[in-house]
Amino acid sequence: MSSFPSALGLSPQQTEDVVRMAAAAPSLHNSQPWRFRLSRHSIELHGDPRRRLPAADPADRELRLACGAALMNLRLALAHAGVRPVVTLLPRLAGPSALAEVRVQGHGAAAPADEMLYRAIPARRSNRRPFMDTAVPAGHRHQLEKAVHDEHCRLHVIGRHERSGLERLVQRAHREQMNDPAFREELARWTGVRQGAAEGVPAASAGPEPEPQDQWVVRDFSGGQARQRVPGKDFEDEPLLVVLCSYRAGKIADLEAGQALQRMLLTATSLGLSTSLLSQVVEVDQAHAELRRLLGEGLWPQAVVRVGYGSPMPRTPRREPWELVMDAGSPVNSPD
Ligand SMILES: Cc1cc2nc3c(=O)[nH]c(=O)nc-3n(C[C@H](O)[C@H](O)[C@H](O)COP(=O)(O)O)c2cc1C
Repeated sequence: MSSFPSALGLSPQQTEDVVRMAAAAPSLHNSQPWRFRLSRHSIELHGDPRRRLPAADPADRELRLACGAALMNLRLALAHAGVRPVVTLLPRLAGPSALAEVRVQGHGAAAPADEMLYRAIPARRSNRRPFMDTAVPAGHRHQLEKAVHDEHCRLHVIGRHERSGLERLVQRAHREQMNDPAFREELARWTGVRQGAAEGVPAASAGPEPEPQDQWVVRDFSGGQARQRVPGKDFEDEPLLVVLCSYRAGKIADLEAGQALQRMLLTATSLGLSTSLLSQVVEVDQAHAELRRLLGEGLWPQAVVRVGYGSPMPRTPRREPWELVMDAGSPVNSPD
């Protein structure tokens, strides 16, 4: 019998399953900056300050984005288990690290669309390999836009005339970060990690070494290890690049953007599409400000995503659900 604590009226096994699904979310450098406090009446999602990435993400914006993505998975996993969740962002009484609190609003079968996204959770991967030159159909693009809209954010599709401007910004931001010894040290610590590690980006997930003209679409995650160059396999000529934007700045907007990001990535997965992120341009202040201007000032760029048809990728590791429970060992099952 599982000794995992139970929450929200679920069995210990169901509770473990929803935490495992939440933790399958993407996070910068696979840092997995989340923890969960489980009780009979709520599941609290907390940021994990020990997993901050101060060089790349000094304001914890991407930490909140990752936790928002984990929250999206948690909502879908609860719906799958027959629980209709209600979410409070930044619950004031749960302590300074609390980002969200989930309670039960009711019970019932999950909507078919949510079940489809739930099934996509274990299949989603960040794919840094070249994509095929096949264009993403407009209907699929609209579904990605709708997924983001449903979570109160906006997806900006980079037009042909904007691509060279974005490329310039990404390259400049990349150079600036790589000139910063603290950034290089942090990146090296979290990438090219040894086989069997439960966190960080393994070299196998880095993708092949891009040709010079393609370098801007993928971040170097090889950890300095030699990478395979696939003969004749360039990156796609016209990558579909989208910028996920919130309508405002701030912690709540970051958490909403994280949920929107994950709904979009899962929608892409369920449509057979691959995705990868290129975040340099939203991490470096100057580049972020210029990207805002490129998009027309009104929106707040949160994540830049490349979308296309890719080849299968290995899964990245995750810690076990019991490692993510706060106050494990205290009587989380007792009435509160
Ligand atoms: C906020 C955020 C920013 C990210 N930025 C990048 C990036 O710039 N380049 C990249 O290749 N991957 C990026 N990723 C993807 C992570 O590296 C990836 O999610 C993590 O390694 C786990 O792998 P998985 O997505 O395959 O589960 C980002 C993910 C998140 C949530």
